[in-house]
Amino acid sequence: MASQLVFLLFLFNLCFAPFPLTSASQPIDECKAWLVQSIPTNMTDLTPVPGVLSTADVFRWLAGNTTRELDITAQYWEFIALPNDNRSGDYGYTDAQLGSFGANEGLQVYQSLQSAADRNVSIRILQNSGFYPDYDTESASLAAGRPNVQNVTLLLSNWYGSGIVHAKVWISDSKDIYIGSANNDWKSLTQVKELGIYLVNCSSVATKVEVYFNNLWKLAFLNSSLYTKTVWDQQWQIKRQVPCWSHFVPFQERCRSPLPHYVETPHVAGYPTLLDPNMFQLAINTPGYNNTSSQNNSCYLSFAPPEMLFTKYQADEQGWVDTIKSVGAGATVRINTMDWLGQSQYLSPTVFWSSLSSAISEVVFSKHATVKVIAAYWAYYLNGTDEYLKSLLYSNVLCSSSKYNNCAGKVEIKYYEVPGYNKTGPALSNGKSTGNIYPDFTRVNHAKYVVSDVRAHIATSNLIWDYFYTTAGVSFGTDNPSIISQLQEVFDADWNSPYAIPIVPL
Ligand SMILES: *[C@@H]1O[C@H](CO)[C@@H](O)[C@H](O)[C@H]1NC(C)=O
Ligand SMILES: *[C@@H]1O[C@H](CO)[C@@H](O)[C@H](O)[C@H]1NC(C)=O
Ligand SMILES: *[C@@H]1O[C@H](CO)[C@@H](O)[C@H](O)[C@H]1NC(C)=O
Ligand SMILES: *[C@@H]1O[C@H](CO)[C@@H](O)[C@H](O)[C@H]1NC(C)=O
Ligand SMILES: *[C@@H]1O[C@H](CO)[C@@H](O)[C@H](O)[C@H]1NC(C)=O
Ligand SMILES: *[C@@H]1O[C@H](CO)[C@@H](O)[C@H](O)[C@H]1NC(C)=O
Ligand SMILES: *[C@@H]1O[C@H](CO)[C@@H](O)[C@H](O)[C@H]1NC(C)=O
Ligand SMILES: *[C@@H]1O[C@H](CO)[C@@H](O)[C@H](O)[C@H]1NC(C)=O
Ligand SMILES: *[C@@H]1O[C@H](CO)[C@@H](O)[C@H](O)[C@H]1NC(C)=O
Ligand SMILES: *[C@@H]1O[C@H](CO)[C@@H](O)[C@H](O)[C@H]1NC(C)=O
Ligand SMILES: *[C@@H]1O[C@H](CO)[C@@H](O)[C@H](O)[C@H]1NC(C)=O
Ligand SMILES: *[C@@H]1O[C@H](CO)[C@@H](O)[C@H](O)[C@H]1NC(C)=O
Repeated sequence: MASQLVFLLFLFNLCFAPFPLTSASQPIDECKAWLVQSIPTNMTDLTPVPGVLSTADVFRWLAGNTTRELDITAQYWEFIALPNDNRSGDYGYTDAQLGSFGANEGLQVYQSLQSAADRNVSIRILQNSGFYPDYDTESASLAAGRPNVQNVTLLLSNWYGSGIVHAKVWISDSKDIYIGSANNDWKSLTQVKELGIYLVNCSSVATKVEVYFNNLWKLAFLNSSLYTKTVWDQQWQIKRQVPCWSHFVPFQERCRSPLPHYVETPHVAGYPTLLDPNMFQLAINTPGYNNTSSQNNSCYLSFAPPEMLFTKYQADEQGWVDTIKSVGAGATVRINTMDWLGQSQYLSPTVFWSSLSSAISEVVFSKHATVKVIAAYWAYYLNGTDEYLKSLLYSNVLCSSSKYNNCAGKVEIKYYEVPGYNKTGPALSNGKSTGNIYPDFTRVNHAKYVVSDVRAHIATSNLIWDYFYTTAGVSFGTDNPSIISQLQEVFDADWNSPYAIPIVPL
């Protein structure tokens, strides 16, 4: 046991200890990284964090700088507001109102995509089917009459019975990349709170995410009925449909994967935690914070659903869990999410999913860690959230339930309320004023990330079972100290703002 622990610690150090400085003669990787945010209008009480870029700028630059190829994953397309369509949540707002909401930023991003398309940039769009009322009209318009633009819809529900393309990734010329929470929607630029990372001149990250993109692309062209199986999923105790190469399928019954090879773990059902997931060393410059170009840092990518994994990259759930567990003794984990449910959302019967809350309780108990969670309170707040959050808060009671526990860790949770969140929706309905002051699906903190004292994890998935097992999502993680510090500052600005309201325990 002790020797195993020593071995684990040894591995941990190998993965996370920064490489020593090397002499200056060696050419260093040119990767630059910035955190990227969208901040809804009228949040005047939020302390700005210097050096963070805006999502609208980054999307424009990604499109504007591409010379060769632009790969985009999208859940849906709504860069252009639809105030004249009575089926839209934008309906009835005046041009002046839309202007004050920042809708023009969305139009500009769309125009930068049009201009990339007109420059004969090869654009590959991998999307979900979009939303009522206009679905994927915008990407279809980009593709119309342009052989250099391919618009492909992947329906993961054909593969899993539910699930969507929910990853939000832009990859430009296999070297510049955005990964984060922002949708291809004007509202995601100025009316929804988002967080992502922009990596520039960073082919070592971009080409890896491109493999994942290509996996999804390949799936879109396969006949799912030839490549799926319904199995008893031993881990989640449910019968469900999965790709036939899934590790949830008993080894002897698995098909050969049409995707690149992923590590096999015989005698195990599902996708267990990898002791040594793929990490890569990267010297990342952070011009928006402190420059740290001379030192290598460990970085990783994690992906969902697990059947899209390749080589030895970890599943997205492991990326989250390991970041929570990376916390040092007595240190703090900061988690920001829109949703929080310890279960599935779209499965029948419902799956119970305690992976993240267990990891939190574990570090509260054994490492005396403080875990701070921000969850969103908004118009589409999910029932059950309050109960699951309060069950997580109950860890505090359990932790100090015996004097022998010697408990010094704690969980603290706040709801985040963007002002105006309960007055969203179309301005007009049946010719009458609704009293709403913002369009539908706005005024929400939609960012998804976790940051400990030693590791930052920037994600695209909601914290609900489905997003890790049936839905496409990507995360980028690193132990780069500047990215960690700046992400902590972003969290603390929210946590200490009047928009974050503590949850009172049961
Ligand atoms: C802006 O926020 C303030 C306070 O947070 C609120 O009183 C005001 O109504 C808001 N205005 C709009 C247009 O949302
Ligand atoms: C290219 O990206 C840089 C920042 O990475 C930005 O300053 C510049 O404006 C972009 N160029 C175009 C044409 O968008
Ligand atoms: C557009 O690019 C493709 C290859 O990427 C090339 O074959 C084609 O000739 C280009 N078209 C124009 C009009 O430049
Ligand atoms: C792609 O764009 C073309 C051209 O506009 C359109 O006819 C087609 O329906 C679109 N396909 C998808 C999957 O959106
Ligand atoms: C990326 O590299 C190119 C070519 O080396 C350089 O021109 C550009 O300024 C770099 N971009 C950034 C943001 O440093
Ligand atoms: C997919 O495969 C099924 C089963 O062989 C077949 O019935 C169906 O026509 C195929 N669909 C397409 C689009 O090829
Ligand atoms: C950083 O890591 C890369 C890849 O492992 C290596 O080639 C490079 O020499 C390292 N650079 C420094 C400054 O340690
Ligand atoms: C990072 O380095 C560049 C080039 O040396 C410098 O212009 C910039 O001010 C530095 N940024 C910070 C935040 O130190
Ligand atoms: C959610 O809770 C509210 C208030 O208790 C209730 O009115 C509503 O029907 C619930 N919705 C669902 C989908 O359970
Ligand atoms: C909307 O939210 C504000 C701030 O939380 C609250 O004061 C107000 O009562 C709410 N209004 C409605 C109609 O729920
Ligand atoms: C919405 O607009 C359409 C056409 O513009 C019209 O036929 C329809 O009656 C309108 N519906 C409502 C509820 O106003
Ligand atoms: C960044 O720079 C500031 C001021 O120079 C310094 O206080 C801070 O420790 C630095 N942070 C990191 C992570 O290097």
